[in-house]
Amino acid sequence: MIKILVFKYINLLKYLLKNKFNFKSITYYPIKADIEPTTGCNFKCTMCQVSSPGFIKRNMSLETFKKIIDQNPQFIKIKIQGLGEPFVNKEIFEMIKYANDKFIKVNTVTNGSLLNSDNIKKILAVKINELSISIDGASKKVFESIRLGSDFDVVIKNVENLTNNRNKNIKKIQSLTLIQKKNLFELEDIIKLCKRLKLDEIQFQYLLTSWGKDEWKTVNNEQQIDNENKFFDLIQIYRRKYQDNNFKIGVVTKNKFTEYNKCNYPWETPYFSTQGFVVPCCMIANPEVVNFGNITNMNFYSIWNNKQYDDLRLSINNHKLKDYCKNCYNI
Ligand SMILES: C[S@@+](CC[C@H](N)C(=O)[O-])C[C@H]1O[C@@H](n2cnc3c(N)ncnc32)[C@H](O)[C@@H]1O
Ligand code: SF4
Ligand code: SF4
Repeated sequence: MIKILVFKYINLLKYLLKNKFNFKSITYYPIKADIEPTTGCNFKCTMCQVSSPGFIKRNMSLETFKKIIDQNPQFIKIKIQGLGEPFVNKEIFEMIKYANDKFIKVNTVTNGSLLNSDNIKKILAVKINELSISIDGASKKVFESIRLGSDFDVVIKNVENLTNNRNKNIKKIQSLTLIQKKNLFELEDIIKLCKRLKLDEIQFQYLLTSWGKDEWKTVNNEQQIDNENKFFDLIQIYRRKYQDNNFKIGVVTKNKFTEYNKCNYPWETPYFSTQGFVVPCCMIANPEVVNFGNITNMNFYSIWNNKQYDDLRLSINNHKLKDYCKNCYNI
């Protein structure tokens, strides 16, 4: 165990020093990752590629999960969530426990519908660093018009049950709210709802990815809010009104990338699909768009340093972007 910790912290040091000395090649392994436990979901949200007709639903096996963790003792933090609803995979609790035992912090994001009493007990028996629930509306009408197939009342009751029974194993419970044209007018009410639900924080996201796919570009660009400045002004007003020691209001500040504010996902956060494919980022989250190899038959470190991965890094450095990257740069 000491050996693993030493390796973890030496790698962390290399990672932290990476920009200082401007190394030409990558000298460290990623300290975080997104791991997709399932592509199955009980909702069909209007902006999510999981709702595409024919989208294949499959769970990651515990064996594949363990392979990822065993090959990456340097991980400090992982997010066990990808496309799909993480709690559809009943082995998620064992996955979290496995990561806990390897000193890896675990975050996850859920639609909240499966947080029944039984699952809440199981959640509270493992260690979760950050549990995010996607609350995209303050009213039944708006919530259910975005999160198709959902029942607003069930989600809210589940969240209440969770926050009323939380223990020390769960560090932070927050809402991850995707603001778009359909719910912008409920901004203040969503904040009030999250505060009433005793969440620690609400994190707003306002950029919709098109998943590297043309067919999603039109749908999601249409829903993207068009007055970011007004949105940020409102956030300032509501921070003054509602923020306190027990409740924070944040914005995931992922502005569109530019030539001078480059994407750093291929240097930071690999995405592992249910079948073990390594995808460059959660903005794509689909091995059919691009993948660099599969950890079930290859060693992750060889994938991390392979030519295709380096080629993507080079394309971002030289600003000669791959087609699937262009939407992140508004090109
Ligand atoms: C893909 S979902 C998976 C986890 C879970 N099923 C949920 O809905 O929370 C993770 C997060 O991505 C957000 N999301 C969905 N479609 C998106 C898009 N096109 N762009 C950015 N975020 C999106 C969801 O609102 C959710 O907060
Ligand atoms: S609940 Fe999550 S995974 Fe399912 S369709 Fe909605 S955003 Fe996508
Ligand atoms: S620019 Fe490319 S690598 Fe970076 S997040 Fe977007 S799709 Fe992923």
